[in-house]
Amino acid sequence: MSYDDVIKAWQKDPDAFWTAAANHLEWSSPWDKVCDTTRPSGTWFTGAQFNTCHNALDRHIQAGRGDHHALIYDSAMTNTIQHYTYNHLRDEVAQLAGALERSGITKGDRVLIYMPMIPQAVMAMLACARIGAIHSVVFGGFAADELGNRITQAKPKMILSASCGLEPGRTIEYKPLVDAAIEKSSHSPGKVVVWQRHECKANLNQEIDQDWNEFIEGASHAECLSVNSTDPLYTLYTSGTTGKPKGIVRDNGGHAVAMHWSMQNIYNINKDDVYWAASDIGWVVGHSYIVYAPLLVGATTVLYEGKPVGTPDASAFWRVIDNHKVNVLFTAPTAIRAIKRVDSELKMAKDYDLSSLRALFLAGERCDPDTLEWSAEKLSIPVIDHWWQTETGWAISANLFGENLFPTRSGSAGKAMPGWDVKIVDNDCNELATGEVGAIVCKLPLGPGAMQTLWEAESHFQETYFKDFPGYYKTGDAGYIDDQNYLHVMSRTDDIINVAGHRLSTGALEEVLATHPAVAECAVTGVHDELKGQVPLGFLCLKADSELDHQQVINECVAQIRSSIGPVATFKRAIVVERLPKTRSGKILRAVLSKLADEKHVETPPTIDDPTILDEIKNALQHEKELAL
Ligand code: COA
Ligand code: AMP
Repeated sequence: MSYDDVIKAWQKDPDAFWTAAANHLEWSSPWDKVCDTTRPSGTWFTGAQFNTCHNALDRHIQAGRGDHHALIYDSAMTNTIQHYTYNHLRDEVAQLAGALERSGITKGDRVLIYMPMIPQAVMAMLACARIGAIHSVVFGGFAADELGNRITQAKPKMILSASCGLEPGRTIEYKPLVDAAIEKSSHSPGKVVVWQRHECKANLNQEIDQDWNEFIEGASHAECLSVNSTDPLYTLYTSGTTGKPKGIVRDNGGHAVAMHWSMQNIYNINKDDVYWAASDIGWVVGHSYIVYAPLLVGATTVLYEGKPVGTPDASAFWRVIDNHKVNVLFTAPTAIRAIKRVDSELKMAKDYDLSSLRALFLAGERCDPDTLEWSAEKLSIPVIDHWWQTETGWAISANLFGENLFPTRSGSAGKAMPGWDVKIVDNDCNELATGEVGAIVCKLPLGPGAMQTLWEAESHFQETYFKDFPGYYKTGDAGYIDDQNYLHVMSRTDDIINVAGHRLSTGALEEVLATHPAVAECAVTGVHDELKGQVPLGFLCLKADSELDHQQVINECVAQIRSSIGPVATFKRAIVVERLPKTRSGKILRAVLSKLADEKHVETPPTIDDPTILDEIKNALQHEKELAL
């Protein structure tokens, strides 16, 4: 079947298409309806009962594949490699799930997971899924305030954590961050369970703290609890345009079907294959393609704790591919840029056998053609850019690797996948012609696996995604479709920036900067960065009576973002300006600031309040550049 045939089959009868996909999984009871379109994103497999953990683990064991590797943990930080068979992983998960049940966690309870890239983090997610608890994983690079925010919103009954995360050159103690986050939050979890790593022991000093091994000791193995297909599997907080993160809610049945279909059809990964998503379980890529999708097809997933460079060097990825005979690698373009910067001829791959590697998938940010072409040439395999979001859970546009692969086009993120009817529209929702850049929207209902709502924020959900373009989902991205039907995703239409494949809200950064006593007003924009794609740049207007040295304010602001949001914000640059460019109605012209910082040509916007301000900003940027030299 060609790509066109696949799309035609879906368009002709979407219910039959997704029924065929769903039939690969085991359902405790059948569905009444494949997709109920009452809600905008569609409600999938209504009436059915399902358990995601059963399908990810027990189903394969029952099919006689218990001795097959489910998970390979490879830590470049601790030089550890551990193999978990499906039997072993299921036993660990079932015992942890039993311990959760023993301590009163039941279906629908939230369990917050704040952990580094270790097998126990994967076990924690699957253990929640096993008993119908809703996991909410928080990325380890977020600091206490951000963690506290998520505790307040998700109201977890329990937090599962570890004593530390390991970054090159430093150990990040998690427990003090958890304690500080709980202190800042209006919600108190009943228990904090801590996996003690050898590299650092956490102080279990609070009454609610418990050591992981004690917590699971003697717990009986929990059975999989069948839940409604539509019940939440997890919430995952992602950046919106305000400082308050949005809790994406993902269901069980629709999600599993999307994971299974995409794993086989987009990535061409089946039960005897080894798949490696070099991401972090704190991001949606980690949820979908480190944990759920590879296990749902019965493949082997690689959990890598380390970086593409510096752990110990730019050969790290090639070593992992060789060691574990990885068939498909998924990472962010920034990781490839990091390798290319150090090893532009890929000499460091020469010592490794990469013959198992069949394809490289890239996503998380726009992939510059250079990066794509370089990796395709050096690795001599298809390199596939594909586009998706935390909200969608899997690719809106991609390719079909395997026999249905169509030619890739650099600069494009492939073509729309089944489930996603992608259109390019203007602000009034009129469809634009081929090649014209506009807002990227998807006709409702969305594909299976798409978010169901925002956690306890239904009206925000409706307003954010479905109000501006009635009948469509607003992706927040802009781009165009070319004459061969390829989608080109160019930029965001909102104030979200993408730093090293991590999505950040400039609004959230501004909220923190505004708390500095000397700052009267501020703006944050994303500026181009060779390695990370974008990095944030702060523009600070100081209070008239502030007597503080400008550099001191900047340093304090940088430190404040690091301690409130976390190092992952990569906020290292700010400049002091007299005024900010605004429209006559008072809206800050962030896109203008971003262009000025990137030294791009800026047309004076007709709505600008005072055009002379543009020269002031240019001068301030020039001054900063001179100081840096
Ligand atoms: N816990 C604590 N701190 C973390 C962290 C974690 N889990 N992850 C990152 N950080 C810290 C880093 O140590 C760094 O701190 P520093 O400012 O003291 O150096 C900071 O956050 C920024 O991290 P990052 O943007 O990851 O930069 P880096 O220099 O460490 O690595 C890359 C650069 C390109 C190698 C890295 O960003 C990368 O591999 N990106 C891929 C992203 C990805 O997988 N995205 C998911 C979509 S596929
Ligand atoms: P996240 O929700 O963190 O996965 O970030 C999603 C956002 O990252 C998208 O809305 C895009 O702005 C950007 N993005 C992800 N993948 C791509 C891609 N392949 N091309 C262009 N932008 C991308």
